[in-house]
Amino acid sequence: MAIADVSTTPISDLMSLSGRVAVVTGGGGGIGAAICNRLAEAGAAVAVLDLSLDAAKETAAGIADRHGVPTTALAVDVTDEAAVQAAVRQVAGELGDVHVWVNNAGAYPSAQAIDLSAEGWDSLMGLNLRASFVGSREAARHMIDAGHGGAIVNIASTAANKSGGGNAVHYVASKHGVAGMTKQLAYEWGAHGIRVLGVAPTLTLKTPGIEEKQEWLESVGYGSVLDEYASSLPLGRAALPDDVARLVLFAASDMAMIMSGSMLYADAGDMTK
Ligand SMILES: NC(=O)c1ccc[n+]([C@@H]2O[C@H](COP(=O)([O-])OP(=O)(O)OC[C@H]3O[C@@H](n4cnc5c(N)ncnc54)[C@H](O)[C@@H]3O)[C@@H](O)[C@H]2O)c1
Repeated sequence: MAIADVSTTPISDLMSLSGRVAVVTGGGGGIGAAICNRLAEAGAAVAVLDLSLDAAKETAAGIADRHGVPTTALAVDVTDEAAVQAAVRQVAGELGDVHVWVNNAGAYPSAQAIDLSAEGWDSLMGLNLRASFVGSREAARHMIDAGHGGAIVNIASTAANKSGGGNAVHYVASKHGVAGMTKQLAYEWGAHGIRVLGVAPTLTLKTPGIEEKQEWLESVGYGSVLDEYASSLPLGRAALPDDVARLVLFAASDMAMIMSGSMLYADAGDMTK
């Protein structure tokens, strides 16, 4: 299936996700909630998946209120393959065929490589890399069965393409893995009209995960590290969740119709450092 030629489609239609269904993992807070918001603003019906049902419900209710789109909220642990498979069926039953799948759920624990256990390595790989693969595969199986293409967006990190500075080795390895997986899946599924892209944020403030990290940094006497990193970035500040969400919307929309396999950097110039 060749992708459509959209050369004469108006920009407003290219940006629109009206009539499409999007799934966002880890949509209960932080970057994931911002992604849900922009996809809904573009007209998509949005399924919010999160470990926390309460958090998923809060995001879903907020975007339904603001943008008037159908939503659903599901408690799903993305590391549970059967739960992800069941979620695809449930979302399709409630909202219709899925066109956009965003693998956002992830974590960034601190650790020194010299002290990191093999179990700690496996656990983070299971969340950041294996679950992104399982989510991508289930989304692609569904899109292929449904007979239409779609877009799969994997949230990576600037640490997908360089060292992570203060980030831990399993985090950096998992995000490099996400970048490699994105290229290979784009190659394998292009014939089905499925585009697979990555969005790679630099430090992104105002997320629950970063706020927790900030508290921990303060407790160990490194409270100024994130501020210093943010002001060292060429654009003079760190990213905010909506900075990332706008790139995800672009990647998921027909504006990016010819892009697949590549990474969009929400990096404030981080990649030039
Ligand atoms: N915030 C940053 O500085 C930053 C920078 C680069 C990349 N990222 C990436 O962006 C993504 C989101 O980061 P964030 O800062 O918003 O994180 P966050 O910790 O603030 O939020 C993550 C969300 O995912 C959910 N979640 C965690 N484990 C899950 C699981 N097993 N199943 C389902 N949901 C789960 C959490 O409940 C939470 O709602 C992650 O993949 C992260 O690696 C973040």
